[in-house]
Amino acid sequence: MTANADAPFRTVIEPFRIHSVEPLRMTTADYRRGKVQEAAYNLFQLHADDVLIDLLTDSGTGAMSRDQWAAIQHGDESYAGSPSYFIFRDAVRELFPYEHVIPTHQGRAAERILFQALAGPGKVIPSNTHFDTTRANIEFTGAEALDLVIAEGRDPAALHPFKGNMDLDALETLLRERGSDIPCVMMTITNNSGGGQPVSLENLHAVSEIAHRHGKPLFLDACRFAENAWFIREREAGHGTRDVPDIIREVAALADGMTMSAKKDPMGNIGGWLALNDNEIAAKCRNLLILTEGFPTYGGLAGRDLEALAQGLKEVVSHDFLRYRIRSTAYVADALEALGMPCIKPAGGHAVYIDAKALLPHIPPLQFPGQALAVALYEHGGIRSCEIGSAMFGKHPDGSESPAAMELVRLAIPRRTYTQSHMDYVIEVAERVMAIKDSLPGYRIVAEPPQLRHFTAEFAPIA
Ligand code: F0G
Repeated sequence: MTANADAPFRTVIEPFRIHSVEPLRMTTADYRRGKVQEAAYNLFQLHADDVLIDLLTDSGTGAMSRDQWAAIQHGDESYAGSPSYFIFRDAVRELFPYEHVIPTHQGRAAERILFQALAGPGKVIPSNTHFDTTRANIEFTGAEALDLVIAEGRDPAALHPFKGNMDLDALETLLRERGSDIPCVMMTITNNSGGGQPVSLENLHAVSEIAHRHGKPLFLDACRFAENAWFIREREAGHGTRDVPDIIREVAALADGMTMSAKKDPMGNIGGWLALNDNEIAAKCRNLLILTEGFPTYGGLAGRDLEALAQGLKEVVSHDFLRYRIRSTAYVADALEALGMPCIKPAGGHAVYIDAKALLPHIPPLQFPGQALAVALYEHGGIRSCEIGSAMFGKHPDGSESPAAMELVRLAIPRRTYTQSHMDYVIEVAERVMAIKDSLPGYRIVAEPPQLRHFTAEFAPIA
């Protein structure tokens, strides 16, 4: 009679209850049309008050826990040698046991410092797919950022459990042909720009072996390491009963260091770090840190921030949290697919990626189908999403323009922030946009900065 009492239920509930709430402001479609026009059709330029469900990013937008807020009260604001730094350092090392742990104000600061130390003109840095700030920081030093993700990772419809994997043959060839130009190899886990897709442990072992055989250090861009570890546990044979921290430590041991945005899996609203084993590079990085970020025991963060991150690192590796997290993202992707909205398959960890090129074939890539869909989701339902396509990646350092590999719209899901009924609303808005999709206009750019244009570019609809 009771044999099945612990069988899992169909409904995977949020493994928390709500302790403090923030009001949402309802607006009308007419109002939003005015606001997005004022923002030159760039959703980064909206006032967040005018957004109902904000899926722009999962970065720094999560809800902190009761215990993180308590940890904030424990913060020690000593300029040098704060006890909060050592609590933070030990929490990082519990999962990533690197010799040097250098806090930074967010991930891109760690990237800037690392690449200022390692890159420069004539250098090449391969990754599965570089995130846009990583690419920009590499290119800013005059180096080249190369994406070597497997072919399945470039095809939104291809089914593969680890679409974030590196193309090992391409990496081997590059290292053989241009070895002396390559200061390090990077791996982004999960592969954000490629759809939040995980990297397998097997692939990480192989990348580590290849890089080290050529005498190159491997660095992780590890923003979503816990989600990646959960995918390994769920999808890779032989890991289904392992503890997530144990998988994370195996991943860490394959690399020589990491850059980190603590605004993602570590559940912080701000923060990041650079960690590595090499004493010489670490000394160089600490000097650069002092120049612009701060003393090496705070790196641009308050002591209280370091404490919140230390606590967040303990919470994110919870199996109950990760099961809910990954399932709730797949829930949205499954529902959009059922409406006929093509999404990257399988669903990523932190976000659902809609294939705008497949959805809006009447809009050519350089008229930004992703931007068109993102604007429509905002106008119709107040949902803010993010184009990851030719608006983001279509402009090159030499000033030329060409279509990005994919035209995606990302619905990034902040951690522990929205409930299932918020997601049901998102799905209903998507259904409404589906009904008028063939009438959506393309866009042209009327003003843009030289780098990272998607943040500030001004768009206009094409009549
Ligand atoms: N690497 C990856 C894979 C990221 O996703 C991000 C940020 C960074 C590095 C940079 O970190 O923002 O703390 O400086 N991604 C955010 C996003 C912005 O929306 O995906 P940061």
